[in-house]
Amino acid sequence: MARRSKPPARETALITGASGGIGASLARQFACGGFDLVLVARSRDKLEELAEEIRAEHGLNVTVLPADLSVHGAPKTLFDAVKKKKLEIDILVNNAGVLEMGAFAAMTPERHQELINLNVVVLTDMVSRFVEPMIERGRGRILNVASIAAFQPVPSLATYAATKAYVLSLTESLSEELKHSGVTVTALCPGITETGMVAQAREANPAASQLPPFMIGDVDDVAAQGYAACMAGEVIRVPGALNYAASIAARAAPKWAVRAVTGMMGRFAI
Ligand SMILES: NC(=O)c1ccc[n+]([C@@H]2O[C@H](COP(=O)([O-])OP(=O)(O)OC[C@H]3O[C@@H](n4cnc5c(N)ncnc54)[C@H](OP(=O)(O)O)[C@@H]3O)[C@@H](O)[C@H]2O)c1
Repeated sequence: MARRSKPPARETALITGASGGIGASLARQFACGGFDLVLVARSRDKLEELAEEIRAEHGLNVTVLPADLSVHGAPKTLFDAVKKKKLEIDILVNNAGVLEMGAFAAMTPERHQELINLNVVVLTDMVSRFVEPMIERGRGRILNVASIAAFQPVPSLATYAATKAYVLSLTESLSEELKHSGVTVTALCPGITETGMVAQAREANPAASQLPPFMIGDVDDVAAQGYAACMAGEVIRVPGALNYAASIAARAAPKWAVRAVTGMMGRFAI
């Protein structure tokens, strides 16, 4: 019998926050692109369900690694678990994030810490661990899910917006630092997107439920743009024409004018 040459190894994407919302949709996008997957979030049952769906539809290897990433040391435990399974992560998608809407002073110091921990500390820890083998191999991609809130201060989302500004800044710095390494770093900056996160904000805050439908993005459109931007090695992708225009305006206008506008909107929301 003629010897067959070994088929080329499939690449693997690890996605945090894959149990729902933008993360689950990103997982489906990467599956359509033919990537094996490692799915991470706290909800094991939802991850298993998505893994089954993707295995059945695409015949890919999908590994479920449930984890509460906010627990101290969780990114290291996850990195070690991936290594133990001899999985090479070609694409890291840092999507898990948490939002809280309302007056800064009405939130407990612990809640502020939780936002900063998951959105900033954990994300940085994940990047610093997973980027090293990518640099060694001379190839890899990182997709960090930031937000349109990264471009300007957002009263009523003060801590959340500050965490996303960090994610955007980190992404831009790294994309330049790693320019000739074969590793790309992309920030996906969605506007308001129909997910559980927004449903929760609506429940907690009546002002959030008054948003006109044209301001709310479709989760699959957002994920498709994130996938495309990551694969193209783009540095910043803002899905939606209105969001894109707002992000340009926020960068072009004087800071005092941006604060005045976001202040007006923010005070309406709290
Ligand atoms: N929706 C929007 O309007 C919007 C706009 C701009 C940016 N974003 C950003 O997009 C990302 C995804 O948001 P989403 O709207 O899809 O939110 P979502 O529907 O609430 O999903 C959040 C995901 O993160 C996971 N997660 C939360 N805490 C975690 C933890 N401690 N450890 C591990 N996983 C955790 C959740 O899974 P478990 O509960 O199972 O752990 C879930 O899979 C976030 O970074 C968010 O800031 C969202």
